[in-house]
Amino acid sequence: MLRTGRLERVRQVFRTLRFRLAGTFLILLAVVLAIVGYFGTKTLSNILESRGEQSLHEQLGAMKGYIHFDDHGDPYWYWDPTDTEEQAAVGKLRGIFYEANENGDPADGTPNRNDLFNRETVLNELAEMRVTHEPVIRTVTGRDKIQYQIIGSTMVDGERGRTWYIAEGRSVADDHLILRRFRRNFLIFLLIALMACMAVSWYSAGAVLSALQSVEKAAQAITGSNLGLQIAKRGAEDELDRLIDSFNAMSGRLKASFDQIRQFSTDVSHELRTPLTAIQGQLEVALFTATRKEQLQEAIENALQDVERLANLVRALLLLSQSESGQIPMNKSVLDLTDLLYELVDQFQIPAEARRIDLKQTAAGEPVLCEADRTQMERVITNLLANAIKYTPEGGSVQTYVEADGANVRLVVTDTGVGIPRDHLPHIFDRFYRVPDSNPEKGLGLGLSFVAAIVKAHSGEIHVHSEVGQGSRFEVTLPAGQVRTTPEPVLPVQA
Ligand SMILES: Nc1ncnc2c1ncn2[C@@H]1O[C@H](COP(=O)(O)OP(=O)(O)OP(=O)(O)O)[C@@H](O)[C@H]1O
Ligand SMILES: [Mg+2]
Repeated sequence: MLRTGRLERVRQVFRTLRFRLAGTFLILLAVVLAIVGYFGTKTLSNILESRGEQSLHEQLGAMKGYIHFDDHGDPYWYWDPTDTEEQAAVGKLRGIFYEANENGDPADGTPNRNDLFNRETVLNELAEMRVTHEPVIRTVTGRDKIQYQIIGSTMVDGERGRTWYIAEGRSVADDHLILRRFRRNFLIFLLIALMACMAVSWYSAGAVLSALQSVEKAAQAITGSNLGLQIAKRGAEDELDRLIDSFNAMSGRLKASFDQIRQFSTDVSHELRTPLTAIQGQLEVALFTATRKEQLQEAIENALQDVERLANLVRALLLLSQSESGQIPMNKSVLDLTDLLYELVDQFQIPAEARRIDLKQTAAGEPVLCEADRTQMERVITNLLANAIKYTPEGGSVQTYVEADGANVRLVVTDTGVGIPRDHLPHIFDRFYRVPDSNPEKGLGLGLSFVAAIVKAHSGEIHVHSEVGQGSRFEVTLPAGQVRTTPEPVLPVQA
């Protein structure tokens, strides 16, 4: 039990970002240093080898200078025994040397070093040199377990025309020692460098990640009641500060949309409560006080009206939630807006006449084509016309038209109504927003929020100009889409 707990803790450390970051650095450095070490050793060993070969060639040249042939044609060494320097040089040369005749029979050599030379190799090398005319270098391990580099060559007794095999050797133990020392020192350096890297990367990864932990803690601390929580920036203006910025912005957006939802629920319950209370009141009064059939009928009619209002409200809320979540059902097709406007203006003539309002579609002639959803565009026009008629006193006028404007189309609805006070203008597209006291009729304050959502879903824009007491002008601009809104210029036909 205890062991699995510890194991889990160790596993958790392995999984941390800090461990992985530090580990990656460490592995990277180890790989780089290992490559450097490998090539360093290789280069050093090449240098030592070529230096060794060079000194062997020099030794061979010097050796040849000391060898002479006596009257019998046998080789012998001659040097000046009084010259101490020469004495030392010859001593060194005779450290490892060998002489043999053409048949491989030994003539002279370092005593007791027949482990390094034998007839077979001498004959082989003589054969090789007859072809290449170059000295032969070989490496051989002596019985003392030391490696020797041996250079074999020939020397010709000019008088008798006989060829002799001569060889010089040197121990490579010193070279190996240098290489071993280099390897050992490099390994010590590697371990120190890796340990330093581990400490530095562990520390710096920890420092960086501690800022991340503050973001993590803040995210954990967020609940419904402290949405909008902000994390203090570190002032480094680096990636982490940008992360904190993004986090703060996200938290702000969340708060805003939660506030909106809260406000929305309050608005909705308020809107629903009013008709429900009215229905309840009417039915209670009818139940307890109505004695005649007409009284009951009247109560039911009133209640029905309120039920209808409730039903409208629920339908509107459904639409609203669709439009808010960007799910307005879109079924785009090529529409002639002139035609559509004509139909709708026609439908609004009766309510307009009832209020003695002059409703006119001006500039109706050319078709104005655009790609849009017919039902949604009907909703836009209906809402704007209904508002214009609703907020225009008797005797006023409402004018509307559509026009093409380059790649866009424009729908304009102008009225001579009550107008909208400047302070309220920015809010009229908010849901449930109604300009207080200026509303002659009941409304939900939702119409324009639909209009705005639909226009946005069509990538268009809506603007309003209004003067209190003078009237309002609503202007919707939409991209025409793939259809051509202006007729193609007719090219003159050449005769
Ligand atoms: N043409 C207009 N002239 C003056 N005021 C207007 C006009 N159109 C809109 N408004 C103001 O903007 C507010 C919001 O309009 P909106 O259409 O969203 O709601 P509504 O007409 O009150 O209710 P409904 O949801 O039934 O449309 C209105 O309450 C009104 O005060
Ligand atoms: Mg309206």
